[in-house]
Amino acid sequence: MERTLILLKPDAVQRRLMGTLISRFEEKGLNFVAMKLLKITPELAKQHYAEHVEKGWYPTLENFITGGPVVAAVLEGLEAIQVVRDMLGATSGLKAAPGTIRGDFSSSRQMNLVHGSDGPDAADREIKLYFKPEEIVEGDLHLTPWLR
Ligand code: TYD
Ligand code: MG
Repeated sequence: MERTLILLKPDAVQRRLMGTLISRFEEKGLNFVAMKLLKITPELAKQHYAEHVEKGWYPTLENFITGGPVVAAVLEGLEAIQVVRDMLGATSGLKAAPGTIRGDFSSSRQMNLVHGSDGPDAADREIKLYFKPEEIVEGDLHLTPWLR
């Protein structure tokens, strides 16, 4: 089983899409093993998006991601990192394929609703940014033999 970090970004919360988006991950068979609502500070934004801090568009990204509450969650499942990335679709909502979350719900290059870690190193790093080890629920609470 693999773990990945997702954020339901401020646009998702403000558009009342939290439930819809959580449902998509549940329906796919991913397990929620940690979840919280928080406001991202500029400091946390710079850590989260460290690879993008020097980009010309970073200030607008920071403004967006700190502009309202987000939901952070850890999802667990077989190949969860790639499964979530595939569910999100391409970065721009204008390019993301219909059937993906961004393709179905976003028409923006920046306000694309959900973040997902882009690989195992990013997942480890990002989970630690948002959750202490004791905030992640351990154990086979979800009884998922139908996934194996
Ligand atoms: P990136 O890591 O390239 O995309 P992804 O979220 O698919 O891994 O970029 C991080 C976020 O930055 C992206 O979700 C939306 C935003 N962004 C912009 O605002 N402008 C841009 O030109 C790009 C490429 C991304
Ligand atoms: Mg990325």
